[in-house]
Amino acid sequence: MSKRGMNVQATNWPPMPRGYFAIGAERMSKALNLGNLMRSAHGFGASFTFTIGATYQALEAAADTSKGRNHLPHYDWAGLDEMALPQGCQLVGVELIDEAIDLPSFRHPIRAAYVLGPELGSLSPPLIERCDHVVKIPTRFCVNVAMAGAIVMYDRVKSLARFADRPIRPGGPDLDETLRGVTNMPETTPIRGQG
Ligand SMILES: C[S@@+](CC[C@H](N)C(=O)[O-])C[C@H]1O[C@@H](n2cnc3c(N)ncnc32)[C@H](O)[C@@H]1O
Repeated sequence: MSKRGMNVQATNWPPMPRGYFAIGAERMSKALNLGNLMRSAHGFGASFTFTIGATYQALEAAADTSKGRNHLPHYDWAGLDEMALPQGCQLVGVELIDEAIDLPSFRHPIRAAYVLGPELGSLSPPLIERCDHVVKIPTRFCVNVAMAGAIVMYDRVKSLARFADRPIRPGGPDLDETLRGVTNMPETTPIRGQG
């Protein structure tokens, strides 16, 4: 916790990038994972969540365990044929495959829907075919699906929203320097705890 007494619940924090995003998963079977993904999606500012071919159990129980389900629209598509994304929304697959783009080197589309694979298995070939891009998180093996979703959403917010530059020294940016314009912080970025 910063000595500056930052208030993470200030209405103007966190900074949100332009555009919108959605996140979902194919053939999800565990309610806990779906509930976690929905909760993180709400926290990171998603516009909606979706599932493709999710099991009934995952959907029903996730509705109980996730507050996110109460706050965001959720689309439950039975199969790929039913999937209907808004016009101009690019589909970004998240899968640990050789051909995927390294997430740290990826430019996120302003309008994006991220799709993750099932707990047991991977994104299906037809879905990968349908993706505009596929990204991989730099881990040595697959991590939990809800965690993978949170990492991708964090990367989106970090790379598209406006934050002060990281300082060279360990620690956070000097807010006095930031106010004097020494540290590069865009004018539109709210300073935490400053209203
Ligand atoms: C637990 S993994 C699936 C299991 C995995 N195919 C296996 O058995 O080795 C569930 C989903 O999380 C996502 N995922 C996990 N780790 C990932 C990574 N390092 N890069 C990209 N996606 C990842 C993918 O969408 C994947 O389909």
